[in-house]
Amino acid sequence: MIRVGIIGVGTVGQSVANILRKNKALISARAGKEISVVKGAVRDLSVERRVDIPLTDDVNEILEDESIDIVVELMGGIDTPYEIIKKALSRGKAVVTANKALLAYHRFDLQQIAGEIPIGYEASVAGGIPIINALKVGLSANEITAIKGIMNGTCNYMLTKMIREGVSYEEVLKEAQELGYAEADPTFDVGGFDAAHKLLILASIAYGIDAKPEDILIEGIENVNQDDIDFAKEFGYSIKLLAIAKKIDGQIELRVHPVLIKQEQMIAKIDGVMNGISVIGDCVGETLYYGPGAGGDATASAVIADIVEIVRAGQSSPMLGFKKPFQSEDLTLLPKEEIRSEYFLRMLVDDAPGVLASIAQVLGKHGISIETFLQRPSENAKKATLLCATHTCREKDILSAIDEIENLPHTSAKVAMIRIEA
Ligand SMILES: NC(=O)c1ccc[n+]([C@@H]2O[C@H](COP(=O)([O-])OP(=O)(O)OC[C@H]3O[C@@H](n4cnc5c(N)ncnc54)[C@H](OP(=O)(O)O)[C@@H]3O)[C@@H](O)[C@H]2O)c1
Repeated sequence: MIRVGIIGVGTVGQSVANILRKNKALISARAGKEISVVKGAVRDLSVERRVDIPLTDDVNEILEDESIDIVVELMGGIDTPYEIIKKALSRGKAVVTANKALLAYHRFDLQQIAGEIPIGYEASVAGGIPIINALKVGLSANEITAIKGIMNGTCNYMLTKMIREGVSYEEVLKEAQELGYAEADPTFDVGGFDAAHKLLILASIAYGIDAKPEDILIEGIENVNQDDIDFAKEFGYSIKLLAIAKKIDGQIELRVHPVLIKQEQMIAKIDGVMNGISVIGDCVGETLYYGPGAGGDATASAVIADIVEIVRAGQSSPMLGFKKPFQSEDLTLLPKEEIRSEYFLRMLVDDAPGVLASIAQVLGKHGISIETFLQRPSENAKKATLLCATHTCREKDILSAIDEIENLPHTSAKVAMIRIEA
């Protein structure tokens, strides 16, 4: 029998314990051995939980129990789970975690520390979607040219609602909080950080690149408004928070931000709280993975898949899916300011002759050519909203141009910018 200890018996931990009991025969048959949860650790023993496993408030009762084979870390946070996982590994216990925040910082050192001891983390990216396994195993023959993912259900729910129903950002955020899709402090989700953590994990499997959240471009959806959505609809775009990894000329581009994306692209059709990830490989072409990105049972499904895999194999493949670094290619991270994209700009300006020309002049000066220019009346009769889509240009050029436009005498507010994903 394989004995499992769960550290953190909250939303996901309870689902793991309950599914392992409910589907025990099936899971044990698939794994080839009986799997039992023998103990769970929590902070507060007085909280009522829907599980029938023995609980402790001392994690060492799990870590120091010689009979426990697999430690499942489902407590969240970074520093404490890092110490806990290291201790579990030092005692030869396999580890399964759903903790993307921890892995965004510590996946490479954990791979080093673990050596031959398996660490599973399928649940850390896109909840129930087996995307880690797809990249580590299913697509291992491919050079991965791009990964584009909707990896945060909260943002996707909010943007879908804003597009379909014309609801404002503030209204939809309040509703998402009432429904439990968004936290009281939503920054981690709406600011793009959660999606960035997941992107970094996928990029390390696809490219062997060890980047940290602070190294990459991360922008949230807080500034998307109805003018942007109207423009998107008029020109056949949807707006999504995309996490993007691309390999371009031996460099890796990693970024998370809202994008305007053509409605006919497969990834643009993923709506509501669902997650979707498109992976393009040089042999296979485009593959798309769709499913629930969060929720106790969906996430537990991925946690248990890791447990089954560990029990089956005894020793799993290397944590990040490669035995040697990708040295031959010497991949580096493309600096944020060198990213190239098409851009959409929204500007509030005086409704006066010559204003449009002065903006076009600034863009031209920075080598940026305009694809579409539209003028919309604004609530204030003396002002107008200008909407502009550019051809491909460099991030640093568009940022300099925006800075200059914001300082023109006729510009009344900060310029809003959304990148266009071709
Ligand atoms: N929820 C999801 O849909 C989802 C999806 C994908 C990944 N994840 C990841 O899964 C992990 C767990 O998420 P969750 O939603 O299940 O969190 P949660 O509901 O807040 O549960 C966390 C559990 O950890 C326990 N805990 C916290 N600190 C502890 C400590 N120092 N010692 C012992 N126990 C401790 C808590 O105990 P008390 O109950 O006593 O406070 C609670 O039982 C996180 O890393 C999260 O990012 C979650």
